[in-house]
Amino acid sequence: MKISATALALASLTGLCYSFTTTNTGSFKIRPASSTAILSATVEEAATYADPSRYLSDHPKNNVPPHIAALVGRGLHTRPDHPIGIIRAKIQEYFASLPNEYIVYDAEDPIVTTTQCFDDLRIAPDHPGRSPSDTYYLDDSTLLRTHTSAHQSEHLRSGVDCFLCAGDVYRRDEIDSSHYPAFHQLEAVKLFPKEDMAGADGLSGEDWENSAECKVIAEDLKKTLEGLMDHLFGETEKKWSEDYFPFTTPSYELEIKYEGEWLEVLGCGVVHEEVLEMADRADRRGWAFGLGMERLAMILFEIPDIRLFWSDDDRFHSQFKEGQITKFKSYSKYPPVLKDIAFWIPEGFEENDFFELGRGIAGDLVERMELIDEFTNPKKGKTSKCYRITYRSMDRSLTNEEIDALQDELRERVLDLGVEVR
Ligand code: DAH
Repeated sequence: MKISATALALASLTGLCYSFTTTNTGSFKIRPASSTAILSATVEEAATYADPSRYLSDHPKNNVPPHIAALVGRGLHTRPDHPIGIIRAKIQEYFASLPNEYIVYDAEDPIVTTTQCFDDLRIAPDHPGRSPSDTYYLDDSTLLRTHTSAHQSEHLRSGVDCFLCAGDVYRRDEIDSSHYPAFHQLEAVKLFPKEDMAGADGLSGEDWENSAECKVIAEDLKKTLEGLMDHLFGETEKKWSEDYFPFTTPSYELEIKYEGEWLEVLGCGVVHEEVLEMADRADRRGWAFGLGMERLAMILFEIPDIRLFWSDDDRFHSQFKEGQITKFKSYSKYPPVLKDIAFWIPEGFEENDFFELGRGIAGDLVERMELIDEFTNPKKGKTSKCYRITYRSMDRSLTNEEIDALQDELRERVLDLGVEVR
């Protein structure tokens, strides 16, 4: 069986980050035929998102590096001829064809509070997704949103019943062809009419989950998302499995079959009653889902490397037209330069700090940072890790000298993480 580079890249994608059982969009308006878009930020406000000084400060809790601040506010999801914008428009087109009217938010402020991003969604204080090794904090209580779910509660509280919300999200993560610290999600929520849910009035917990009404919502959710996948991919094989998110119950994940591989495309579920209560909507019930747009775009456009979405290269952008899904033609395959680095790690070493250092030094020339060897010396009681760094430019050949200089800088700066280079 032939597996494309895209399929290989996608096969390594991790799941959604809030699916741990422990405690893993602003609104310019785009106007789909029949759904209402509203401004949750003025155009002037949204224009300020691209100002890096909003995200950088010497606050002791600020862990946003300049190369991340420089990515915010690019609005790839609002560009009609960018693959992310094309996918988002296609998803919106589908929702505009459904009987309910979905309000569309796509310009909310990427800075949110810990309350919006976590507490309102029942993400516990000790959830690993909240730690500064996973999340970019501006200070103790504000951060770059890690998911578009961070806007669910405010929209519910404002009284809206059905909405979509698209935007850029930020996570400290590993580095390879399918992981980038900034990416785009699309979120949707649908609340059901009170009359349709009257039979479940007053039910909670398991009684609610076992009710016919809860099943109606789950069925509607699945039918809606299966329709969305068919709209995007044509008839495609799909598989549902149970999942866990703190903000939905029951929760599900949807996988689709792509070139012989099952790929997880989204997480969803019936909105948790406590989420609705916290948003002052305890009298209503409904569903929600969230999907990653890069993942869908990589499949549909056959884009093999997630860095390409952020490229300024005209050879990338000239290939895409509003409303059209076309196969990406690689314009280069420049050779990679591989460099290894090995060091003894201190206690509390966070891999993401190392990955970020690499990205900070070499920018998008880093294609992958991969752990290739690890061992513990029982006498010393120390652990050594060896990483292979793949440097490759998407638009030119690299020279050995320039990569040596970058690698030397990495060897030097990694000492700040308390490691001992071997
Ligand atoms: N926010 C989740 C994540 O990024 C994805 C998600 C799952 C969103 C389930 C939802 C949902 O609205 O119902 O991991």
